[in-house]
Amino acid sequence: MIIALDGPSAAGKGTLARRLAAHYRLALLDTGLIYRAVGARVLADRGEGGETDRAIEAARKLQPQDLEQPGLREEAVGAMASKVAAIPEVRLHLIDFQRRFAKTPPGHAAGSILDGRDIGTVICPDADVKIFLTASAEARAERRFQELQAAGATTIKARVLADMHERDVRDSARSAAPLVPAADAFQLDTTTLSADQVFDRVVAHIDGRISRRGS
Ligand code: CDP
Repeated sequence: MIIALDGPSAAGKGTLARRLAAHYRLALLDTGLIYRAVGARVLADRGEGGETDRAIEAARKLQPQDLEQPGLREEAVGAMASKVAAIPEVRLHLIDFQRRFAKTPPGHAAGSILDGRDIGTVICPDADVKIFLTASAEARAERRFQELQAAGATTIKARVLADMHERDVRDSARSAAPLVPAADAFQLDTTTLSADQVFDRVVAHIDGRISRRGS
């Protein structure tokens, strides 16, 4: 089973993806980490040639262990990830890595779940299940603000909302694999839902699909 889970920042994908992976025994790939790893390399190599060329080179050379490096969750890395993610050649170099994981998940898992922006539309258009999570910009900024505070970062909510808006616009307006729900995705607005409610609704949807497929 392949599950494609897409949506904007802080819509609740990460929490849901971890819970679904444990529930259905699936290998999980947070594809945002791939773009973050490329963004981190571009930031580290500052000053050596143009940003676009450095990003393409970093995407070409990406190794699985690059996703494990510390610091990938920092806001500056997320902002650079969203910039490099708009470069078509960067995305092209990263397609095989993601499809390989989806089709041959590590650790003898029963399948895979990939969380990102274009999994249901570009990376795994034949996924068995496609989910698209959304939430209002204010709700997402509030969640991200809480996460940042819990991690000890000093920031203000207005700044988090402004950064998120900038990233939403860039992710949705880019010509290469923009953030859009697949036509056959199960869409869920999580603005007023708890993590448990989101999990329960998505599991009901997936189990419904599995039983229809089995009958
Ligand atoms: O954690 P958060 O939702 O803020 O971001 P992320 O999922 O780690 O992704 C960081 C950036 O990578 C996003 O803003 C997107 O621009 C880009 N991305 C993408 O273009 N395609 C994906 N499949 C995953 C992430």
